[in-house]
Amino acid sequence: MKNIVAIYPGSFDPVTNGHLDLIHRGSKLFDKLIVAIARNLDKGEALFTIRERKEMLQAMTSQLDNVTIDSFEGLLVSYCIEQGANAVLRGIRAISDYEFELQMALMNRKMEPRVETVFMMPAEQYSYLSSRIVREIAKLGGPLTGLVPTMVEERVRDRVAHRHISATGKHLL
Ligand code: PNS
Repeated sequence: MKNIVAIYPGSFDPVTNGHLDLIHRGSKLFDKLIVAIARNLDKGEALFTIRERKEMLQAMTSQLDNVTIDSFEGLLVSYCIEQGANAVLRGIRAISDYEFELQMALMNRKMEPRVETVFMMPAEQYSYLSSRIVREIAKLGGPLTGLVPTMVEERVRDRVAHRHISATGKHLL
């Protein structure tokens, strides 16, 4: 039997139920799964620091023995080699994800043929879910139930509320 170590990379800002669904599926398939938060993404203002995202992911996956949480900087394929990983796990929700994911997978394979990308589908109820949508709904005061774990929901609400107070200068009053 081969020892398959997979990296599940992403921003996880914040971790959603869709990510957790994929982590559970991945942990059953691979011998070891490393959930790796990308540190050098230029995606505008983040809601949570890397340390906070790591804490939330750790709390949500503590019952999975073969899952660890880490962060990385630079090229994903270099990080894979450094970790002795032979696979990258990515989730595909809808056909709209496919084009970008295919480009990334093929480019990664060109740079590092020893690493294969494995696509998995999350449960259907998460097919419209993303961290970006979660951040937007939270900012607009909408419901997050079922989209993120309760502990993450509380932290998102808290962060968004404090950001709003800072942005409007109310904290100075
Ligand atoms: O959660 P996301 O934003 O969809 O994750 C994107 C991520 C982190 C997987 C991607 O941006 C990435 O792999 N970044 C690391 C830098 C890198 O290797 N870029 C070349 C990709 S072909």
